[in-house]
This record gives sequence, structure tokens and C-alpha cells, in this order.
Amino acid sequence: MKVTVIHSGPVENLTFCRKLDLFFSTCFLKMSDVSPLSVSDADVILVEFADAQDCDLHKLREHREFLDFFPVVAVVDYNSRRECFQADALRMMNVFDRSDRLSKVLSLIKRLGAPDLLAALPEDTPDEMKLIYKQANAHLEAFHLAAVTDEAIPIESGREVASNLLTILQTNGILAWIKMVKFHHNPTYAHSLEVAGFAGWLACQLDWSEDDCLQVIVGGLLHDIGKSRIPQDLLDEPTDPDGVELNLVQKHAQLGYEILKDRFELDNETKEIVYFHHEMLDGSGYPIGLSGEAINPKVRVITIADLFTTLTEERAYKPALSHREAIASMNKMYRKIDQAFYAAFRYGMLSHSDDVRQAEKIAS
Ligand SMILES: [Fe+2]
Ligand SMILES: [Fe+2]
Repeated sequence: MKVTVIHSGPVENLTFCRKLDLFFSTCFLKMSDVSPLSVSDADVILVEFADAQDCDLHKLREHREFLDFFPVVAVVDYNSRRECFQADALRMMNVFDRSDRLSKVLSLIKRLGAPDLLAALPEDTPDEMKLIYKQANAHLEAFHLAAVTDEAIPIESGREVASNLLTILQTNGILAWIKMVKFHHNPTYAHSLEVAGFAGWLACQLDWSEDDCLQVIVGGLLHDIGKSRIPQDLLDEPTDPDGVELNLVQKHAQLGYEILKDRFELDNETKEIVYFHHEMLDGSGYPIGLSGEAINPKVRVITIADLFTTLTEERAYKPALSHREAIASMNKMYRKIDQAFYAAFRYGMLSHSDDVRQAEKIAS
């Protein structure tokens, strides 16, 4: 979703609006440069009235009719009669105070601009799956929001959602879940929903207790929470995936741990999942190069789920591999990932995915 922030004062002063960058593809447009063309690709327009000059407001007024084609949110200081009057004169409907909670503004922007999650799904998607998908997505959003606003992570209700997802995995199967999740409009959220599904499913394949299955599902939802501190544009379309930008994106594991380390609502194993999910058994991973026994079994499950999900996703800099190609690629990682867990994963995929079954036939 693209949010265009129309402003008059310097961008450096827009601390409130600059946080939007972490959630949406955000562009800043001077009020004096507003034209039908300059806002044409916006999904939501946010007008910031701080330091708005009369000449700039006049320009905005000229194009007011055109703004009616977009959802518009206005940000003012409720204590400033001048800003409130300016927003009123421009017939702004959704007006927020700059000191309002960020979460309030974010949820309105999402409601106004995000495509309907369920409308994108194929018609034959079972209702019970739609419901859990919506619940899991809402919790993922709540987790990301809490990471930015420092509010408590709603972990208890998150476990309830994980329990519902576990039921779906056991009744409808993993392939039905990931097929549905692929329709999500946000690649970062789709990724976490998919990793949560694969992790819960693999834990079931390993006959883990229900509690452990739930923990890896919650861990899957949370594992990339550090990405909430990395601008959305960089995650969606890195222009330099092998260099500086890669280093920044790789920081998400460390950032995620920093977000969670003092949250007493979370247990230590979940924090380990977030911190170490890119570590490899041979010590070649990041952020600290942990190896062997030092890597918790739950982290190993998430790593397998994360690798398979990443390989089968399309990114701006790489095509998606088929399940068959992803399994072939992971077969070569025997020093890096837990082989007993991977064998269960591969066996499970063999029994579920025609694509993988075919691959094994070709390989043998
Ligand atoms: Fe990650
Ligand atoms: Fe990930």
C-alpha cells in the first residue's frame, strides 16, 4: 500500500509521519507540488498541517476536488485553532491529533487503503480457514504494531490464534494453508503466516506436544518482527540485495531480539527463535555464528520453515522456486540444518505435494 504524505513544513520535523515508513511504502510530497498527477498512484493520502503556509494551502485547495477520489487522513494539533480551522476549511473528514496513538492512525490507514484480505481469496476457500487466516493476520499486525509503539505483545490471544491454526493444519493440511496465504497482498506478512504454518506442521510431524507446536507457531508469526524497524520499501524491493541493503535487512534478527528482550510477557525460547532463526548448525549463519547444540530445537524448526518459505517466494531480486526445486536446494544443506527434522519435513512434503514426489523420482 502506498501512502502519500502531503506536507508544507520540513520533512525532518514530521516525526509522526516518518514512522509510517515502517509500515507502508511512503512518499513525501510538498503541498506546493500537489497536482492530479503527483498523487495519482497513492492508495491513501495523509495531509500534515504542521507549519502549513497559506500559499501552500491555497495550492492544495485548488486540487481539493481531485483529493475526493482518494481516502484522505488529516493530522493536526487539536490545540492549534489555526490547524483545525485549516483542516475544516479543506473539508477533511478523518482528522487526527498529532499526539494520538500511532496505532489508531495506522489502523485507519490500513482500513482505508488495504485491499480486502478475504476478497482476494478463491471462492472455494472454506469459511473456517478464512476465519483463522483473518485472525492470524490481525494478530501479526498487532505484534508488529506493538513492536513499534512499545505496547505489550498480545501473546495470550496470540496463543489462542495459534491453537486455531494448529487445528486447521491438522484438518485441512499445510498445502491448503500456504495456498491461501500466497494471496496476501503484503509479502512480509504472507511470509510470517507461511513460516508459522510450516513450523506448526513440522512440529506435528515430529509428534511434539501441543504446547510446543503452539510455541513454534507463535514463534513463526514473530520471527521477523525486527523487520518492523526496517522501511517497508527496502523489504519490498531492495535495489542492492547483495550489498549494504542486505546487511541492513540481515540486522532484523538482532533488531527483533532488541524489541523483545525486555518483554516479560514472552518466554525466553520465543526470544531465541527471533534472535537465532538465521543461525546454521555449521556456524555459518547470523547474527552471531552460533553452531551445533547451542541452537535450540525450536529455532531449528523455524529455520527449516523459514528457508523453505523463502526459497518458494518470489522476491524483487529472485524468482520463486517450486516445492521440488526448494527441496533439491535444501537437500544440499546437510551441514547447516537439522537432518532429523529436515527428514521429517521432506517426508511430510513427499506425502502431500505431487510436485515434490515427482522431484524425488527424478533424483533417484
Ligand atoms: Fe528472518
Ligand atoms: Fe523469515
